[in-house]
Amino acid sequence: MTTMVHARAFGNIALIKYWGKTDGNANLPATSSISLALDSLKTETTIRQLSHGPDEVVVNGQNGQNGANQRVIRILDNWRSEGLLSGHWTIFSQNFFPTGAGLASSASGFAALIKALSTVAERKLDETEISRLARRASGSAARSITGGLSAVEIGENPSAREILPPREIPWGMVAIIVDDNHKKIGSREGMEHCRLNSPYYPAWVEQSRKDYKAMLTAVEKRDFTSMGRITESNCLAMHACMMAARPPLNYWNPATLAVMHHSAQWREEGLENYFTIDAGPQVFLLAKKENLEDLARRARNIIGVQQALTALPAGGAEIIACG
Ligand code: PMV
Repeated sequence: MTTMVHARAFGNIALIKYWGKTDGNANLPATSSISLALDSLKTETTIRQLSHGPDEVVVNGQNGQNGANQRVIRILDNWRSEGLLSGHWTIFSQNFFPTGAGLASSASGFAALIKALSTVAERKLDETEISRLARRASGSAARSITGGLSAVEIGENPSAREILPPREIPWGMVAIIVDDNHKKIGSREGMEHCRLNSPYYPAWVEQSRKDYKAMLTAVEKRDFTSMGRITESNCLAMHACMMAARPPLNYWNPATLAVMHHSAQWREEGLENYFTIDAGPQVFLLAKKENLEDLARRARNIIGVQQALTALPAGGAEIIACG
């Protein structure tokens, strides 16, 4: 019987954003999404069976009753109540990048946890089921189970599917960190606020449906320029929806805007790149692999930029060891 599992997963950054839920309890997305898994956004998680309860959770060195740890315990409780898991567990999870600052920490964190738990589940789970279970924990985590360029299409109980494996992806990203503090309003709360209080929310959902289709076509044709343009427009539509909410939700800071302006300038000079921004101030530049180092070097010279990390396409969640 397996009593210890060590799993690894990579975060992903969406080109077409998931922003909004149709059903909060089942965590059903209102928009289909497409993302790229990135090797610089790594989480490793170890689970070990305990002889008795309660569960013990340490996420990024923090134990005790904080929000992240309670979310993990709720997942264990749900799995137990559904007969998917027995016993109590110690969960030790470590991110290898700044947490909670819009760097997709929930995607890699929950994907690594769900992948580890799937190994000790009471019944065999295939990748589709594992991705669904990850989606229940955090919408974007579904896409970190499959990795590469992955899509989640809205529906009854969606899971992610890989649309391009990492070896066939000639693009990567530069993650530009302009504020590494923990973000104020998490995505769960932010998207619900937009659904209820942004007059642009219906337009966002409708536009996103078109962007998703257009992105699938652009990916199929390997049309990087179209992919980039759709990525930027989709990101700006999501942020417009946030900013139009009452009260407004604005995740940007002056350095976020500075990077966006430089990105356009570099593109005009012939260095093709496109930005995207999640629920945080950090900017991600999508570019061909051979241009990533140059972009990162340039980004480090912008006032307010703390770090610029290059990131290549990564695979799905994996088990590294078990015993
Ligand atoms: O998976 P969540 O609940 O953290 O939501 C992710 C929201 C965005 O990062 C803004 C967009 C996305 O699709 O990843």
